[in-house]
Amino acid sequence: MPLLKKLVGAALVLGGVAAIAGWFLSAPVRLGAATLAQLGPGDADRGKRIFYAGGCTSCHAKPGSQGDARLQLVGGLELKTPFGTFVPPNISQDTKDGIGAWSVEDFANAMLKGVSPSGEHLYPAFPYISYARMKPADIADLYAFLKTLPAVAGKAPANSLGFPFNVRRGLGLWKLLYLSDKPVVSFPEGTPQPVQAGRYLVEGPGHCGECHTPRDLTGGTRKSQWLAGAAAAEGSGIVPNITSGEGGIADWSEADIANYLETGFTPDFDTVGGAMVDVQRNMAVLTREDRAAIAAYLKAVPPHPNGYPARKKPAS
Ligand code: HEC
Ligand code: HEC
Repeated sequence: MPLLKKLVGAALVLGGVAAIAGWFLSAPVRLGAATLAQLGPGDADRGKRIFYAGGCTSCHAKPGSQGDARLQLVGGLELKTPFGTFVPPNISQDTKDGIGAWSVEDFANAMLKGVSPSGEHLYPAFPYISYARMKPADIADLYAFLKTLPAVAGKAPANSLGFPFNVRRGLGLWKLLYLSDKPVVSFPEGTPQPVQAGRYLVEGPGHCGECHTPRDLTGGTRKSQWLAGAAAAEGSGIVPNITSGEGGIADWSEADIANYLETGFTPDFDTVGGAMVDVQRNMAVLTREDRAAIAAYLKAVPPHPNGYPARKKPAS
């Protein structure tokens, strides 16, 4: 018995040490001075491109709004996931209900580190795991562009999450595993510039991998199946494989991909649907060079077979 007691005691001590270590490791980490120094003055015209590349309206526009009303970033969309329902907040320039009072440093900490001005972890339903790869100067440009958009009063409803997902502090350990500003796909030296520009747009602001890559049990994207397609995080649909592996888009040329992003037409004259509709509308606002770069990158990423289980044949 004494041995068992000792073991239990040791386990308790170890558990306690792990809990204390966990508490410190899970502390929110803000940007360092070197990164903040790269923010620069910010330029609203350049920021407009980043805004559309980043697809902020897809989540923060009032649900169902059209045209210019989509620039009123009041939030309120319900994102139903296996972890609970996330509701993107008001990020309009309202100083009380939105982010009108935030400094550019506050904004950069949210976008690149997933930390709020009050020092809390933000949930990665806000795709900062991708935005973390953005250049600080682009963040400052985006901030300057957001300043040109209207201030709209009104708070969006709170997230509705069960335990343990409602404990923000717990995200700290998760972020240690998944938050990185390093590119996902490494290319050899001498890789053509458009492929590298496309990598930045896709892996950073475009956050394409958030939908097109399968996730592991804790909700992180599986880098080993990058862009291989996934079961949709919301609902029961499938997000297609956009690599050139089996089941993917090997038969699409770069021109086909660029054309799809511009017009919404697939090579078979099908039209874009589902969650991709908003993404495509945003891509259409970018330049021809941007869309060509994204296409060049998709052709250059390692091919993977479909990253989701094959759909069962419907019973006849
Ligand atoms: C896929 C949906 C989605 C997209 C796309 C998205 N966001 Fe969000 N965003 C969220 C969610 C959800 C939250 C709330 C996270 C939380 O509760 O911790 C959020 C939170 C934020 C916050 C923190 C606000 C606060 O009050 O704490 C900022 C700032 C923000 N988003 C800016 C942006 C910008 C800028 C873009 C475009 C570059 C963008 N978001 C794109 C879903 C999204
Ligand atoms: C919010 C989730 C989401 C994001 C983010 C997203 N996609 Fe998609 N994408 C989809 C869905 C869903 C489809 C299937 C559309 C359909 O059914 O018509 C799709 C389809 C596509 C297709 C056509 C594939 C085919 O076989 O029909 C391409 C190419 C594509 N996406 C590229 C991109 C790129 C590039 C980005 C980033 C700029 C991106 N997607 C971001 C959800 C997303």
